[in-house]
Amino acid sequence: MNKPKILLTRAWPEKALAYLEAHYDVTLKDGASLSKSVLIAAMQDYDALCPTLTDKLDADILSTPNARVRMIANFGAGFEHIDLKAAKAAGIAVSNTPGALTEATAEIALLLMLMTSRRASEAERGLRSGQWDGWKPTQFLGQSLKGKTLGLVGFGRIAQSTAQKAKAALGVEIAYYSRRQAAAETEAEFGARYVPSLEQLAAESDVLSLHTPGGPDTKHLINAALLKAMKPTAIIINTARGSVVNEADLAAALKNGVIAAAGLDVYEQEPKIHLDLMGLENAVLLPHLGSATIETRTDMGLRAAYNLDRFFAGEDLLDRIA
Ligand code: DGY
Repeated sequence: MNKPKILLTRAWPEKALAYLEAHYDVTLKDGASLSKSVLIAAMQDYDALCPTLTDKLDADILSTPNARVRMIANFGAGFEHIDLKAAKAAGIAVSNTPGALTEATAEIALLLMLMTSRRASEAERGLRSGQWDGWKPTQFLGQSLKGKTLGLVGFGRIAQSTAQKAKAALGVEIAYYSRRQAAAETEAEFGARYVPSLEQLAAESDVLSLHTPGGPDTKHLINAALLKAMKPTAIIINTARGSVVNEADLAAALKNGVIAAAGLDVYEQEPKIHLDLMGLENAVLLPHLGSATIETRTDMGLRAAYNLDRFFAGEDLLDRIA
């Protein structure tokens, strides 16, 4: 029997790619993002697509006439780049890779908390530019996080892992806001206190860390009004999706001392970064590194591959989202 034809829009880590190549007829199109016309042609040529968050699969693409694609195995957890409604309407199954990147993303949230609170990027830039002229008692003073309140926006897997790591490593108190309050046992497990509104959480937090999905429901949750409710010493961390933050409002708040600092791993228009953020010493800017460990990216690839296996064996998907 012929192996199913699979299109990968990006190269995967070696072990995951080797697994796919052993089981499928794989075409790899690594390079610039695929254009709409290439993706439409791919819909007619392949049995399955394996996109990533940089491939926008909209209704026009997903409703391609005479499509051969029956399955989309997304390499990644976030799926706002795929029109799930259109996929469902076209009878295309879609999976993602949720649990695989929890720990790695929580690590980046902690990294950003430390980099912002201890002004690490700014200090290193100073050193590399030859401006460091020796130790001084008042130089590059940051703030300690011990005993401070870490407010989590959203309380899913990544938020919970961030809570656990931050509590153990930094000694912070955990508060959270999400649409639904977690069960009492879950709150007890993470020592987390529910705060019933985002505004209240923002006002109480020393560090506000975002862990909501992207999409219309969460667009610009963090805006000028919310930033104004925060403490002037507060730090905001975003490892979730760029669309959750109004970057122009955030840049203005950082510039005018409305809040103290921001640690960002995701952006509204990736890979473009808002120009006002680029010039700010109190913004730590990472290039979407959340899941970027060899272990995690391998697990993400294997998880996507196992979803394909299930689909082509006629079994239930591990992580069906459509
Ligand atoms: C995802 O999988 O959606 C992440 O943003 C990748 O790091």
